[in-house]
Amino acid sequence: MKHLLRFLLVGACVFARPGGPAAAQQRGAAIPHLTRQGTATQLIVDGSPFLVLGGELGNSSASSLTYLRPFWPKLRALHLNTVLVPVYWELVEPSEGRFEFATVDTLLADARASNMRLVLLWFGSWKNSMSSYAPTWVKTNQARFPRTEATKGEGQEILSPFVTANVDADAKAFRALMRRLRAVDGTHHTVLMVQVENEIGMIPEARDHSALADSLFAQPVPQPLLAYLQQHRDALTPELHARWDSSGGKTSGTWEGVFGKGLHTDELFMAWHFARYAERVAAAGKAEYPLPMFVNAALIRPGYLPGRYVSAGPLPHLIDVWRAAAPSIDLLAPDIYFPNFVEWTGKYVRSGNPLFVPESRLSEQSAVHALYAIGAHDAIGFSPFVIESVDEPEKHPLARSYELLAQLSPAILGVQGRGMMTAAIPRVAFDGTVDDAPQRVTVGGSFALTVTFEKTDVRGGLIIALAPDEFLIAGTGIVVTFAPVSPGDPIAGILSADEGRFVKGRWQTIRRLNGDQTHQGRHIRLEPNDFSIQRVKLYRHR
Ligand code: DGJ
Repeated sequence: MKHLLRFLLVGACVFARPGGPAAAQQRGAAIPHLTRQGTATQLIVDGSPFLVLGGELGNSSASSLTYLRPFWPKLRALHLNTVLVPVYWELVEPSEGRFEFATVDTLLADARASNMRLVLLWFGSWKNSMSSYAPTWVKTNQARFPRTEATKGEGQEILSPFVTANVDADAKAFRALMRRLRAVDGTHHTVLMVQVENEIGMIPEARDHSALADSLFAQPVPQPLLAYLQQHRDALTPELHARWDSSGGKTSGTWEGVFGKGLHTDELFMAWHFARYAERVAAAGKAEYPLPMFVNAALIRPGYLPGRYVSAGPLPHLIDVWRAAAPSIDLLAPDIYFPNFVEWTGKYVRSGNPLFVPESRLSEQSAVHALYAIGAHDAIGFSPFVIESVDEPEKHPLARSYELLAQLSPAILGVQGRGMMTAAIPRVAFDGTVDDAPQRVTVGGSFALTVTFEKTDVRGGLIIALAPDEFLIAGTGIVVTFAPVSPGDPIAGILSADEGRFVKGRWQTIRRLNGDQTHQGRHIRLEPNDFSIQRVKLYRHR
């Protein structure tokens, strides 16, 4: 443990390498990829783990780089290290087979000039269920590129996931994009990951009712899905397990035969086919340049049935279907616009899914949502939506939180997946009700920490156990008390509490705290309206 402490506080500077893409080129490092550390999945960039402190641009901001250019300083001021940016099928393949990547090339150059990494979002066949980003030559040739249909046969602007011409056209364009990225970024590594499509799903009905969809729906459930269910029977998400069980746990049969009749089965059927389509697109891209790839989901309001929400996307109850159908997709990601952030992040780490939050509602709460996703769930990264809309970036709590997380990155990445990090923020229900009762957490094995939230809007903390009796506590608006949980003397005392900061991975004490700042040794307090780090050493007495 002492060794780990020394590693984090002194040796951690090895992680704090100059992060710029130019340095990557000189080092000739492997392309960005995912790897496991303990129970966590880490994004490795230029040979070191990387924490995405991100923000996603509004949908149309990257359609013109002249429009986008003035925003880069703001993104830097927010302490982002990564921007999530759409690439639009309609713009990169304006006529069939003619690709125009000048905008993508310039985007990469602009990002590098701002020392920023990118996650690209492929706005291909689907964007928030619809096919609005399909090129004109696709939209206007419905005979060749068929759409889904509602029950009464009304047309929908949703490309059918069942049609080979559709997936072939999308996969060809995506493959060309990835080929281009390999050519222009294969050594720079400005682009870290790629999102395949955007918020895939069906609305306002749970499934396509075209003749083609109906005929496929009447066929047997594909064998690979049934094999997956049987192989992973004990690890399936409870929702799918229950649905399969309640229809007798059959290992062959039609969709309705295996899963029962109803909207949920319509959704399962669509999920399988959407995921197969996304798999073909992702695999085509990875064949050129195998960056990590993910899909994102619009979430569900309480009580809504399939069809009322964007159904069949990579939702928590469909994780297994997406996994079985799309092995080239590395993770399923939530777009968290609802207030119950804690609940949704918890649902997206089930079945070992690595957490990455590509979109979340931009607000002052984003500052502590970032701490929570990273501290409680080893998230690869976090990113509020329409990030360029922030006014006065220097004053936004997110800037302070990201600055803190950047300092802490070596320590965070060093302990991810090893059970030595946690976080606490108030739990908020879907209707906005805040439960800010104190929370008791244990990390490091010897002490329980009770986190009390101050009466202020933004509060929360991330805690790292450097050793059983030593902690980094970072965040804002919390008070922390301690109690032993292992055999020995029953009372926890504060041996030392230092406020400080990490500079290039090395701890620097700003001031020793005691007296009023620790309530004369009774607690640790991170003041509201500020983001700070304290390094705390405990002891035990009778
Ligand atoms: C989620 C989508 O993924 C984004 O592209 C954008 O449409 C937002 N919703 C708007 O809130």
